[in-house]
Amino acid sequence: MGGQGTLSRQLVLRVTALVAAVAIALSALTALAVNQILTDQLDQQLRSTGQRLRDPGTRGPLKPAGDPGQIQGLLRYIPDIGGIIQEGRDYTALTVEQTAPLDELTTTGPLTVHLPGVGSYRVQVISVGGTAMAIGLPTASLTATMLSLLLAATALTLTTIVAAFWAARAVVERSLRPLAQLAETARTVSALDLHSGEVAVPVRVPDSGLAPTNEVAQVGAALNVMLDNVEGALAARQHSETKLRQFVADASHELRNPLASIRGYAELTRRERADVPETTAHALGRIESESERMSGLVNDLLLLARLDSGPTLQARPVSMGALLANAVSDAEAAGPGHRWELTLPDEEVLALGDESRVQQIVANLLGNARTHTPAGTLVQTALAREGAWAVVTVTDNGPGIPENIRDRVFERFMRADTSRVRTGSGQSTGLGLAIVAAVVGAHGGQVGVESRPGFTRFTVRLPLVR
Ligand SMILES: Nc1ncnc2c1ncn2[C@@H]1O[C@H](COP(=O)(O)OP(=O)(O)OP(=O)(O)O)[C@@H](O)[C@H]1O
Ligand SMILES: [Mg+2]
Repeated sequence: MGGQGTLSRQLVLRVTALVAAVAIALSALTALAVNQILTDQLDQQLRSTGQRLRDPGTRGPLKPAGDPGQIQGLLRYIPDIGGIIQEGRDYTALTVEQTAPLDELTTTGPLTVHLPGVGSYRVQVISVGGTAMAIGLPTASLTATMLSLLLAATALTLTTIVAAFWAARAVVERSLRPLAQLAETARTVSALDLHSGEVAVPVRVPDSGLAPTNEVAQVGAALNVMLDNVEGALAARQHSETKLRQFVADASHELRNPLASIRGYAELTRRERADVPETTAHALGRIESESERMSGLVNDLLLLARLDSGPTLQARPVSMGALLANAVSDAEAAGPGHRWELTLPDEEVLALGDESRVQQIVANLLGNARTHTPAGTLVQTALAREGAWAVVTVTDNGPGIPENIRDRVFERFMRADTSRVRTGSGQSTGLGLAIVAAVVGAHGGQVGVESRPGFTRFTVRLPLVR
């Protein structure tokens, strides 16, 4: 049985209460009926005794009706004369106090009267030869019968209640056990990671052996149908995602060749640009730079599409110190207006990763620190070991990531759309940090950002070589 409010507990308690109410009512009604029957019998005896007394043929030594041995304690009382109780052949005279209740009778009865010191009597007033006389029979045996009946009924009622409790408990527990299995299945499913990738829902509600018409079995069957459905939907989603990724990868790949040709031809025109009108020379220059930008974009898209379809990394030990030193000096060359600092630990830090991809992560972070901050900004790059991680932080004291995109900077094409300080060349696409997140994820690492005006820090954790 579960806690206070469980369904099974409530059911058991209610069934038990119902059975208890029925058992108590039945016992009470039986007792009332038996009492009535016994009283009627006593009254019947009283009437026939009265009949005998009135009948002149039986005058003389007064005998109660029937066998005197059976009818014990016949009471006779004549007002102003006195009362006696006859036990077999013995007579006991009653005192005035004992018979006092008989003087106060207002009806002829039969009714029950309690005589002090003698006991309760069923009394009827009859008239014998014109004299009013009260006769009575003791209710003692009736009371005794009723007492033992009540005792038996109480014992029976209690037994019934206890039995009902145990029976209800057993039945309810057995009927509700499949519900627990349902809950267990639902819990298992909700613990599954269904958000991405190849997803199977391997759990089903086990066959409870219940009849298909049983409500619990119906819920279980419905849940299983729902799980089939969900699994189908997830498979369909996975299929269309795969197709989309494949399309992006193919499209990016196919775009690379014509783009390379455009770039090549644009480069070829460089030498002759002096001979053409200035506007044409400018247009040719734009064609060259934009086709370069587009090549970069296409490469980014291709990389993201490949990373999405599963890690395709060549993980080897990468010397992080050397890699960062190169990256920072490249950044310095590209952004001489910024102040660049690098802090490296004394020991060698070897991360397990794909070197060119790790370079790309760092280049993207340093590139952001350069392009999204004004000249003069201090950019500090640091490397440390932390447990099983090589931790790279890139911190700048620039204006910070705009608040409206702060929580979503790692999403694809997420960039500040307001015209912001941009000191670098080219336009922003919003793929840089998405690539950082995807590459770090493919390495099994973690990436995070904290940013406020005057402080932006990106933290990348890559697994160390063990
Ligand atoms: N160091 C930083 N300081 C301020 N804002 C930043 C910083 N780094 C990133 N951001 C903000 O986050 C956005 C997303 O960065 P992300 O690198 O993904 O794209 P991008 O730099 O705009 O374009 P891309 O890197 O693809 O050329 C940027 O547009 C910029 O607004
Ligand atoms: Mg960027």
